[in-house]
Amino acid sequence: MPDATPSTQHAAPGGGPPPDGRPLAIRLRAVAKTFGKGESAVRALRGVDLDVPAGALTMLVGPSGCGKTTLISILAGLLARDAGELAVFGQDLGALRRDRLSAWRRDNVGFIFQQFNLVPQLTVAENVSVPLVLKGESVGAAVRKAHDILATLGLEGRGASAPLKLSGGQQQRVAIARALIHEPRLLVCDEPTSALDAELGRRVMGFIRDRSRSPDRAVVVVTHDDRIFHLADTIAHMDDGLVRSVERRAPHIEPPQTAKQGSA
Ligand SMILES: Nc1ncnc2c1ncn2[C@@H]1O[C@H](COP(=O)(O)OP(=O)(O)OP(=O)(O)O)[C@@H](O)[C@H]1O
Ligand SMILES: [Mg+2]
Repeated sequence: MPDATPSTQHAAPGGGPPPDGRPLAIRLRAVAKTFGKGESAVRALRGVDLDVPAGALTMLVGPSGCGKTTLISILAGLLARDAGELAVFGQDLGALRRDRLSAWRRDNVGFIFQQFNLVPQLTVAENVSVPLVLKGESVGAAVRKAHDILATLGLEGRGASAPLKLSGGQQQRVAIARALIHEPRLLVCDEPTSALDAELGRRVMGFIRDRSRSPDRAVVVVTHDDRIFHLADTIAHMDDGLVRSVERRAPHIEPPQTAKQGSA
């Protein structure tokens, strides 16, 4: 299923600007992060260089513990780096004070967490509506939009349920709906298909990939799932706290029947 070899255009350690003329969404240089101190310190990122193109889907792959979640948490503004440069749509996140940073995140970022992070006290539709309510939309209008996006992801009629009563794959789609509902410029997904079967994983990834197809947007997906590698425009390979190589790929053309199924 993975078709890396025939469509690979470029491979370079650390990345470098996209060769196809796409504008950059995110630029990281020598980004470092250490957790803890002294003997128990863990150097999670050891100087990451990466260029993430706009209008494209970038996948981040690598062994468990290599720093993938740490890296996407930093580029989504959820975690501060210790050193290095980071610009997201031209904004240096390190230059923002805490309140400005959380406003920037609210306005620009959708994040799908590895552990879903749904709020158990809220219904499914209320969970999904949170980003719109935070942006000032009325609860009623936000919940109506939440029902619509849930239906698009195959969860029609589940909006009133408690999230913990859903299966793992259903909870994962609720988390995806919540990350997408406010149409963020940057969508960051940590293993978004881990709880989905092959067919659902393809449909959901097609849906996520469609969200990247705009010059002022970008999608970054951490994944181990080789069933979805063919959807990537760029694949960054991480190991031991570093981006070791980057593949830039030719646009992937969906077979017609898959594109049709992708709307459910
Ligand atoms: N909050 C934390 N405190 C201490 N160490 C941490 C913390 N978060 C991550 N680490 C460590 O940093 C390293 C990178 O972790 P990270 O979660 O980024 O890996 P990952 O590539 O996402 O792994 P996986 O594929 O298993 O999710 C690991 O050694 C991990 O133990
Ligand atoms: Mg992780």
